[in-house]
Amino acid sequence: MLIALESVSQAGDVIAVSSPCYSGLLDILATIGRAVIEIPSTETGMDLVQLESALITQKVKACLFTANHQNPTGHSLGNEQKQAIAELASKYQVPIIEDDVFRELSHQRTIPLPIKYYDLQGWVIWCSSVSKTLAPGLRIGWCVAGRFTDKFIRQRQARTLGVNQPIQLALARYIAKGYYATHINKVNRALRTNSDQYIAFLHAHLPTHADVYAPSGGLVLWLTLPAVDTQTLADELSEKGVYVKAGAQFSSTRLCNDCLRINMGNLASSAIYVQLKQLCKLARKRMNT
Ligand SMILES: Cc1ncc(COP(=O)(O)O)c(C=O)c1O
Repeated sequence: MLIALESVSQAGDVIAVSSPCYSGLLDILATIGRAVIEIPSTETGMDLVQLESALITQKVKACLFTANHQNPTGHSLGNEQKQAIAELASKYQVPIIEDDVFRELSHQRTIPLPIKYYDLQGWVIWCSSVSKTLAPGLRIGWCVAGRFTDKFIRQRQARTLGVNQPIQLALARYIAKGYYATHINKVNRALRTNSDQYIAFLHAHLPTHADVYAPSGGLVLWLTLPAVDTQTLADELSEKGVYVKAGAQFSSTRLCNDCLRINMGNLASSAIYVQLKQLCKLARKRMNT
């Protein structure tokens, strides 16, 4: 994804991201000197009017979007929106870097389509990896770069000086033997159970005006705790060894300051319930005051 960004933009260029956006991506964009324009996105989808207006007026050099099981919200875009984004990319000739690392972690039986599916003219650079499905340490990803393929290959060569072929071959064999598919099915069944259990607990222990978004896939839960400064809450929790991320980390606007992201990748063990209980207790205290 970094290679894709560097293939189509330079320092000082404007990149559109959907907002809220994974803080790691915002950090990468800041490190490589890209300016960011945030396009609001909620559970009902991305604000395509704002996107089109930004494409017309803001000299957007590229967009960096996740359509499926976004981090931090767990939201996914509908197929009409995916198609509309692909069409806007062609219309305004702006590349879309599609970061699709969570697509395979669908808690439903079907894996959702990417924006790339609707890309008729090669403006979408579709990126993913096995970081979320197997292990981030493998550092293996892939990219379908459309009309930017040559640029991408040149940039990759300059960046990485080659690939870890033994690990790639081992992974290819793992996939070909069917072990990867079996693994994904197992992980997704577990994630679905985790999601149900975490959400049931949060609903039972948070005030009724708190909101917990139930995602159709991915590894995170997005909470809205109206009027709570979640950064202070997250700091307080971290002193007790409970690690959550405050909404403020995912946007330069103040729109997510009462939101919180929690990870639900771990089985709901008694240790996890102790942590969730601490979160709910402190959130309840702050919501009542
Ligand atoms: C949206 C998103 N993109 C990319 C990454 C990082 O992926 P990788 O380890 O493949 O670089 C993450 C990790 O959390 C992520 O949430």
